Amino acid sequence: MNPADIIKFIRKQFQEPEAFIPLHVPSFLGNEKKYVLETIESTFVSSVGAYVNRFEEMMCEITGAKHAIATVNGTTALHLALLMAGVKRDDLVITQALTFVATANAIVHAGASPVFVDVDSDTMGMSPEALEEFLKDNTIRIGNEVFSKKTNRRISAVMPMHTFGHPVRIEKIIEIANQYGIPVVEDTAESIGSYVDGKHTGTFGLLGAFSFNGNKTVTCGGGGAIITNDENIAKHAKHVSTTAKKPHPYLFFHDEIGYNYRMPNLNAALACAQLEQLDDFLKAKRELAQKYMEFFTDSDIEFKKEPKGTKSNYWLNAIQLRDVATRDLFLKELNDAGVMSRPIWTLMTKLPMYENCEHGDLTQSLFLEDRIINLPSSVIKSKSSSNKIEL
Ligand SMILES: Cc1ncc(COP(=O)(O)O)c(C=O)c1O
Repeated sequence: MNPADIIKFIRKQFQEPEAFIPLHVPSFLGNEKKYVLETIESTFVSSVGAYVNRFEEMMCEITGAKHAIATVNGTTALHLALLMAGVKRDDLVITQALTFVATANAIVHAGASPVFVDVDSDTMGMSPEALEEFLKDNTIRIGNEVFSKKTNRRISAVMPMHTFGHPVRIEKIIEIANQYGIPVVEDTAESIGSYVDGKHTGTFGLLGAFSFNGNKTVTCGGGGAIITNDENIAKHAKHVSTTAKKPHPYLFFHDEIGYNYRMPNLNAALACAQLEQLDDFLKAKRELAQKYMEFFTDSDIEFKKEPKGTKSNYWLNAIQLRDVATRDLFLKELNDAGVMSRPIWTLMTKLPMYENCEHGDLTQSLFLEDRIINLPSSVIKSKSSSNKIEL
């Protein structure tokens, strides 16, 4: 199959014979305008307001988690989640080498350093075998804690990421982490609406952290959320996310170092309107993925399907090409033709700030890094619907 076939197919799906087709754009087709205007009129535009609480309730309803805490973005949700899991300065956190940079950055924001392990070829997320091998060969257990043999630094969390919405083998990862007594924080930034055996991603680990950035399935401009079933952690996370201020009608008393991480009501208004449409978005995204899947069947290109036993939100559709030269050719041809396509991320171990971090064997990560590209994945709107908001 050559790039021209793909361009033709994508243009047909998006009913765009000529115009630029982006990778992922938001759809504002519900109550967005109504809720945002209501928020402005109420004057409660900042982090106190009814929509922030409503957003947290909706996140609990959608994911089945007992508690949700709204944050300003996904990176802060990850940072806070790591702190709540007990990550301390100079610790190590194990994550995957193939991820968006925010996963590794959040570990550093928590004062720790990342350790990178390999991914599985099908999920494109953390390989349980790679995790197990790393822990077996490179760590030593002292009491209830696990330390790197090389640096003597404590390993205080494991953070897998559900790549492009395809769930990782989270149950196996939790089983291994439990054997070592290490908590799991799930980077669910990309996986709202993705499930393993009917259970929402983010509810397997101690905490999950979502992003509602402009390019995500559900967006509120910028936003994030932590979910957890642990009541004490939830209370503490909310406290720390609101400058750790003790509730009082007028006195300022803060009992620990806190953060200004709570989502503003203005963004939460947008988020609530978007979450109301989640089922429709997921349906449209899965329909598009099905079409891509059929199109690439029996071709020399592998479409990355949802792993067995899981339900993916198909946030970004991905294909695997023969080699890096083919990848570069397809990227050039598609982008030159106005059909946006992007390679998967550069491995974290190749970025200057992470090149000296401890890591395991990264064979699969290197293989995928050279071959995976994303294709346009927005919710396809009918020609009669419009994002234009009349004011
Ligand atoms: C895997 C992953 N982790 C973390 C983030 C960070 O989220 P945000 O951009 O909302 O800070 C993103 C998305 O941007 C992401 O894709």
